[in-house]
Amino acid sequence: MTNIQHSPVTVLGLGAMGRALAAALLKAGVAATVWNRSPGKEAELVAAGAVSARAAGQAVGGGELVVTVLLDHASVHETLDPIAAELRGKHWLNLTSTSPEQSRELAAWASGHGIDFLDGGIMAVPDMIGAEGSSILYSGSQAIFDAHRPTLELLGSAEYFGTDAGLAALWDFALLSTMYAMFGGFFQGAAMVGSAGVPASEFATRAAGWVAAMSQMLPAYGRVIDTGDYTSDVFQDLVFTKTALDTLRQAAFDAGITAEPLDGIAALVDRQVTDGHGASAFERSIEALRGQ
Ligand SMILES: NC(=O)c1ccc[n+]([C@@H]2O[C@H](COP(=O)([O-])OP(=O)(O)OC[C@H]3O[C@@H](n4cnc5c(N)ncnc54)[C@H](OP(=O)(O)O)[C@@H]3O)[C@@H](O)[C@H]2O)c1
Repeated sequence: MTNIQHSPVTVLGLGAMGRALAAALLKAGVAATVWNRSPGKEAELVAAGAVSARAAGQAVGGGELVVTVLLDHASVHETLDPIAAELRGKHWLNLTSTSPEQSRELAAWASGHGIDFLDGGIMAVPDMIGAEGSSILYSGSQAIFDAHRPTLELLGSAEYFGTDAGLAALWDFALLSTMYAMFGGFFQGAAMVGSAGVPASEFATRAAGWVAAMSQMLPAYGRVIDTGDYTSDVFQDLVFTKTALDTLRQAAFDAGITAEPLDGIAALVDRQVTDGHGASAFERSIEALRGQ
């Protein structure tokens, strides 16, 4: 039993993620007021003790911490612009996925209306909220983060990245970029073995182990990129990698499938080789991204 006092929270947006966040708060005994644009999504939360508000402006009155979990940047403005006066003096936490620039724009808008602003990037799916493995990245107002940290920890591990409101989104989107490239690679591999009748679920087991093993190389890649020295201790050079990727893509074509997930990294490698860096390390591919 803990004696932590949680401030009342308002959750605006009861999609899959908003409902999961509100449910985790209610489960821990936090007073929650909820609102959703379309009615009908609040029933379970009300049964768990939430107060349901008919209008966003009315909902804001119920919480010291106001959380937006809407579809996108435009829907945040559509919801909050008309109730900026009601938000004045509140702590606003935006957990809607917005780009770093959009998060900074929300911070500026909030500042202009006397609202303290914290942005968050949710590194979890709704089923994970409140459970081990859920993590949320924050940036913007440190005062909000510090004041509500015990409440934020109910949703997932809480980490603060700095006063620049765009930082949490930047980390969030960088991690998601890594994730989508990994999933694209899995789809490529599953389609390749699928051409020989291997079920994707069988491939998944082996691929999961392979991805885990290969991810061990990331810290060393990071160190090389940070030094900017791609010529010492080269493990696999760009010519070697180009040959490997060309052969992989050929194998995909031979199996009657395309190789789009590989095309992106192959294009970076090709450009570096064309520019005369064939003897440099594979990690130099990042320079092709920066050069655009
Ligand atoms: N689901 C995930 O796995 C996950 C993971 C990380 C981050 N997120 C982020 O969390 C946010 C919410 O995701 P979700 O999964 O809850 O999405 P969702 O289930 O599609 O729900 C979208 C929510 O936004 C509301 N909405 C859409 N347009 C609106 C508008 N113009 N004005 C007011 N409300 C509007 C919807 O209201 P109606 O019910 O009226 O349509 C609904 O409450 C997104 O930014 C998403 O990227 C989600």
